Amino acid sequence: MNNKENFMNWVNLGSALITGASSGIGAEFARQLAEQGFDLILVARRKNKLEKLSQELSAKFSIKAEVLIADLSNLNDTEKVASKILEADNLDILINNAGYGIIIPFIERENKQNIDMINVHYTSPVMLCHAAIQEMTKRRKGVIINTASMSAIARTSVMYSSTKAALAIFSELLSSNVRNPRIYIQALCPGFTYSEFHDTNSMGGFSRESFSKVPWMTAEEVVTLSLNAVKSKNVIFIPGEENRALAMGIRKSALKKYLNCKIL
Ligand SMILES: NC(=O)c1ccc[n+]([C@@H]2O[C@H](COP(=O)([O-])OP(=O)(O)OC[C@H]3O[C@@H](n4cnc5c(N)ncnc54)[C@H](OP(=O)(O)O)[C@@H]3O)[C@@H](O)[C@H]2O)c1
Repeated sequence: MNNKENFMNWVNLGSALITGASSGIGAEFARQLAEQGFDLILVARRKNKLEKLSQELSAKFSIKAEVLIADLSNLNDTEKVASKILEADNLDILINNAGYGIIIPFIERENKQNIDMINVHYTSPVMLCHAAIQEMTKRRKGVIINTASMSAIARTSVMYSSTKAALAIFSELLSSNVRNPRIYIQALCPGFTYSEFHDTNSMGGFSRESFSKVPWMTAEEVVTLSLNAVKSKNVIFIPGEENRALAMGIRKSALKKYLNCKIL
């Protein structure tokens, strides 16, 4: 069975809303879903990038691709996106993918930077899932993919890892809470992926060369594997064998540490 066939069992070929669609993994989700025939609602802050992608995909795949400008650190903007979902009446797929890293340490940041990250990585996906599940319940089918990170497992950065871990746990518990077996929820946990992520201002000073020994994947590989994993019904999904082995090692040593703790 190919990727498209197994994926289509879950959806009706309506529309897909993707946050963080202006580059990297989000733009790749847009490309692969447009190729399968879904209409798109592309959400991010950079209007020019979204419009360019919308024009490219609607011309190439004869689909409708709408652009919705929203800064998801601002919950008024997230409300607008949630309203769009409730009005759409044909939403089959929600991809909560917007996200970013900050290289400067927690204690040296303005606290607003931490709150903004909570809103982009956690509060907004929760709000959008709440809206989407209402629509998907009416349509009796649906797929939600929440892009978390391997960092949720590796626990490398105070705010980044904790917000991504919260999103992964939320996805797991939400999945058991949604009683419709035809609504599938995935917490996608990519490892290092080539995209604009490490080139943003907030990641200034990051050097890919310093991380040349860890496995890197392309956004195309991550998205292909994520869509293909819909059939597995596993909520937590780590793309790539090497990343899975790495995660297993990290979890084992974390468990050892916990089990050595005294229980008070
Ligand atoms: N690259 C990696 O190594 C890696 C690894 C694990 C997980 N991830 C996760 O994968 C997701 C996609 O990242 P990527 O690697 O594709 O990086 P990317 O190319 O930098 O894409 C990030 C996307 O998020 C959007 N975004 C960021 N802040 C936003 C905000 N305040 N409001 C709305 N949209 C916002 C950006 O759009 P605008 O700037 O136009 O708003 C962009 O479309 C993120 O959640 C990231 O945490 C990435």
